[in-house]
Amino acid sequence: MKFDILTLFPGMFASPFRESIPGRAIEKGLIEVRTINIRDFALDKHHGVDDTPFGGGQGMVMKVEPIARAIDWVKSENPSAWTIYLTPQGKPFNQEDVRALSSKTHLILLCGRYEGVDERVKEFFVDQEISIGDYVLTGGELAAMVVIDAVARLLPGVLGSDRSAEEDSFFNSLLEYPQYTRPFDFRGSCVPGVLLSGNHSAIARWRRKEALRRTLARRPDLLKKASLSDPDRELLQEILDSSTRGNERDAV
Ligand code: 6GU
Repeated sequence: MKFDILTLFPGMFASPFRESIPGRAIEKGLIEVRTINIRDFALDKHHGVDDTPFGGGQGMVMKVEPIARAIDWVKSENPSAWTIYLTPQGKPFNQEDVRALSSKTHLILLCGRYEGVDERVKEFFVDQEISIGDYVLTGGELAAMVVIDAVARLLPGVLGSDRSAEEDSFFNSLLEYPQYTRPFDFRGSCVPGVLLSGNHSAIARWRRKEALRRTLARRPDLLKKASLSDPDRELLQEILDSSTRGNERDAV
């Protein structure tokens, strides 16, 4: 899969994609990440990429022509590339969007700066507008990295095993259960005994219950969407019963 990032700050992308799993995916040739400096496509001799807004007001607006020329250039290579504009005005990004994007072969990620882009950029070139959450970043660059990372890890061969992606939070609409490794006792806080019991069905039950407990506490919205089995409903009832008895953490 190919990712073309259109940005005024290509340097921001130098190290994130050299490290860890995305770095390995590039080395293995599973993904290709290219940064394109919008300034290289400015026509005037000062390479201007922004200008004051018509109608007045604060800040600067990114001009349409340099962006148009950059996108036209990418599309001359691949007319079917899918163009995403990263903006706080976009639709909030979720795992369903990630899955949909993972079936594309070529993404163009347009990173906004200043007060945004001329509206005609969207009219002529943008297929999808994405926000990564309800807060404001100084530009779309970090958001583009988030999108690429989330999409790349779903591509075949990028993670160590295909299992890892499937077992994630949100794949089955529950948050993950708590994990522990050595030491058994850290400053008096010990690993729950059931995890050392060797009893695999008891461990599975405990994990499912903790996933339900955590989801209920932190993301009740996800619980409503989850497909719960009858045993799940029993576990939930146990959680609710114990929390109305007091707030003690119940035994398995
Ligand atoms: Cl995509 N861009 C900016 N500038 N801020 C954001 C965002 C994007 N998503 C959340 N906040």
